[in-house]
Amino acid sequence: MPQLAIYRKYRPATFEDLLGQEMVVKILKGAAKSDKLAHAYLLAGPRGTGKTTTARLIAKIANCEKRALDAKFRAQGEPCNECSACRAIDDGSSMDVVEIDAASNRGIDEIRNLKESVRVSPSSSRYKVFIVDEAHMLTKDAWNALLKTLEEPPQYVIIILATTEMEKVPPTISSRTQKFFFKRASREEIVSKLKRIIQAENIKIASEALDLIASSAEGSFRDAESLLDQLVAFGDRNISLKEVEEMIGKVGFDKLSDFAGFLIQNEAGKALAALAVIADGGFNLTQFTKDLIEYIRRVAVLKINPEMKAAFASELMEDHLEKILNHAKLFEPRHLALLKGLIAAYGQMRYSQFPIIPLEVAIAENAQ
Ligand SMILES: Nc1ncnc2c1ncn2[C@@H]1O[C@H](COP(=O)(O)OP(=O)(O)OP(=O)(O)O)[C@@H](O)[C@H]1O
Ligand SMILES: [Mg+2]
Ligand SMILES: [Zn+2]
Repeated sequence: MPQLAIYRKYRPATFEDLLGQEMVVKILKGAAKSDKLAHAYLLAGPRGTGKTTTARLIAKIANCEKRALDAKFRAQGEPCNECSACRAIDDGSSMDVVEIDAASNRGIDEIRNLKESVRVSPSSSRYKVFIVDEAHMLTKDAWNALLKTLEEPPQYVIIILATTEMEKVPPTISSRTQKFFFKRASREEIVSKLKRIIQAENIKIASEALDLIASSAEGSFRDAESLLDQLVAFGDRNISLKEVEEMIGKVGFDKLSDFAGFLIQNEAGKALAALAVIADGGFNLTQFTKDLIEYIRRVAVLKINPEMKAAFASELMEDHLEKILNHAKLFEPRHLALLKGLIAAYGQMRYSQFPIIPLEVAIAENAQ
C-alpha cells in the first residue's frame, strides 16, 4: 500500500485538532453544538493554515449521521469521523459534498454545474455542500453565476469559499457569507504539530532540526509537514540538523547567529571566511541573506525595546532568543547602516548571476 502523505494523514479530523485558529474554532464549534450552520462561508488566509480542512469539517458537521441521530453527541460540536457520511467526505467519494477547484479552468464549467446541481436536493444526506477552493481564481462570469445562487440558496445548500486572496473576492459575494480569517501559524504551533507526528510515526529528530523545519515553513503547517515527509521518504527515521539544512538549503540558527556576531563585532575577515564555507556547502545565499536581515532586525528591535522579547517568543526557541538578546547589548547605531547594506544586497542578489558578490560587498563596507 502506498504511503499516505503526512499532511493528508494528519489533517485535523476535529475542530479540537485545528491548531492556532482559536476564533474560527470557537465560533464554528458553537454553531455545530447548536446545529445552526450558515448557508455560505468564506474562509480566507495564508496557505497551509487549515482552510480546506475547515471546509471539510463544516461538511462533516452538516452531514454526519451520528450527529443527526444522537442529540447528546451533536452537542459536542464535532463530527464522528466514523459514519459513512464522514468517511465519504474524508475520501472524497461523497455524492453530496462537491469540491470545486477554481484554479483549474478558472471554474467556469464547474460553477455552471453548481448552478444546476443546487436545484436538485441531496441524494442521501441532509445537506449538499459545495466547497470552492482557490476561489480568488474564479472569472467574473463564474462570480456572477455564484452570486445568483448565494442570493437565494435552497435550505439544503451550503457553499464554502476558500481563498488565500480575500481582496479578490467581490464585495457582493463576501457580504453574503460568514467570514473567517485564518492566521499564519507560529513557529511554536508548527513545532507542536510536528512533535505529535514524529511521536506517532516513531521518528527521531534533533530539536534544532525540528525548529529549522518549522521556521522555514513560514507559517504553513502543510509546508512543514511536506518537508518532514521528504526527509523520511527514504525510510530515514533518525534525522539530523545537517540533513535538514541540506534538504532545505537553509542554515540552522547557530550558524546564522555566529555569522551575525561576526558582523556586529566587526570581524569582517571571519565573516567572509564563514560565508565561503556556507557558499561551498551549497546553501541558498539569498535565503541566507534574508535570514540574516531578519536576525539583525530582531537585534535592533530588542536593543531599542527589550520588551519586544515577548512578541518574539512564539517565533523563537528560548536559547535562540537569548543569543539575540546578547547581540542586542552590542548593537550600536552604526549597525543600522549594516542592516541597510544587507537589504540592498538582498535586492541585488536575487537578480545576480553571482549572488555572493553583493553580500561580500555589504560585509566589506561594514568593515570600514
Ligand atoms: N490549523 C491547523 N492545525 C493543524 N494542522 C493544520 C492546520 N492547518 C493546516 N494543517 C495541516 O496542513 C495540511 C493542509 O491544510 P489545508 O489543506 O487545510 O490548508 P489550506 O489553508 O487549505 O491551504 P491552501 O491555501 O494552500 O489550500 C492539513 O492536512 C494539515 O495536516
Ligand atoms: Mg486549501
Ligand atoms: Zn459522522
